Amino acid sequence: MNIKGRNLITLLDFSSEEIQDLINLAAKLKYEKNEGINHKHLHDKNVVLLFQKDSTRTRCAFEVGALDLGMGVTYLGPTGSQMGKKESVKDTARVLGRMYDGIEFRGYLQQDVETLGEYAGVPVWNGLTDTYHPTQILADFLTIQEQFGYLKGIKFVYFGDARNNMGNSLMIGCAKMGMHFYAAAPKELWPDKALIEKCEGIAKSTGGSLNFTTDPILASQNADVLYTDVWVSMGEPKEVWKSRIEELHPYQVNMRLMKNAKPTAIFMHCLPAFHGNNTELGAQIAHDFGEEFPIVKMGELEVTDEVIESNQSVVFDEAENRMHTIKAVMLATLSDLYV
Ligand code: CP
Ligand code: NVA
Repeated sequence: MNIKGRNLITLLDFSSEEIQDLINLAAKLKYEKNEGINHKHLHDKNVVLLFQKDSTRTRCAFEVGALDLGMGVTYLGPTGSQMGKKESVKDTARVLGRMYDGIEFRGYLQQDVETLGEYAGVPVWNGLTDTYHPTQILADFLTIQEQFGYLKGIKFVYFGDARNNMGNSLMIGCAKMGMHFYAAAPKELWPDKALIEKCEGIAKSTGGSLNFTTDPILASQNADVLYTDVWVSMGEPKEVWKSRIEELHPYQVNMRLMKNAKPTAIFMHCLPAFHGNNTELGAQIAHDFGEEFPIVKMGELEVTDEVIESNQSVVFDEAENRMHTIKAVMLATLSDLYV
């Protein structure tokens, strides 16, 4: 495998073998970092991080990953660059591509990251759009591999908004890696039909499967991985909270669901998570909707505090693995030095 010069816009662009190689490279880089083995392979390169939306993990993972590889890093936040205001995405791509060796983009439109990828002339990495979040999936799969030793055959259940960036990307990733993907969600929050069809075709060739149900109890039976994400994603209007709570409160991951899964099951979440009223928004939701929906009165939304704090939860391993996997993506797309 050689993916030097390639973009990471969606996992659809990568073969199962390439995804597995990236995960294995990340595991190697993680080992080296823990052993204090220097790997500044990209000391002569510079990358730019373009963020239209907020971030903790993705920004820090790119910055630390780039610095560990010896690169220079520029961060351009939601304010402060000309992109989209005085300058088109296409022009921005051509300007940044002349100065940097790689570009990370987090924003709203998938079309924007595609335009950057088309015109920059250097690798472009998707750090989340409304449609996909591919680097998160690499971290999640490294975490599953660490826990179980393999990916193929894992029963992976996603609860909640299955047609957001996480639902879409996890479905693609599971199909690529021969896993059994289940979405437990109301029908209107299942992924787009065309994407399901595409992933079904992929799953057929890898021995994986795709399954959709409105029954969270049925879905959790025998599960290896229970995964959820926020019920309202960045960029959605706050007015949708009420209807989303109405639709999704039966899909909250709680101990009842965890106990229904395999005894060895793990809980996963890309984070940030609402599992208490100790955040501004969590407290606000608890205040506004707690009386009508007692299940959210403590600010516990997509997952309970008990589950996220339990020893089945691997959410902070996932967060750490963002850095090792993103580092692997940068190294593999910017050099030949990845084996
Ligand atoms: N999981 C994730 O992408 O987190 P951030 O929004 O903090 O980057
Ligand atoms: N679906 C979430 C993922 C955050 C990492 C969002 O887009 O806000």
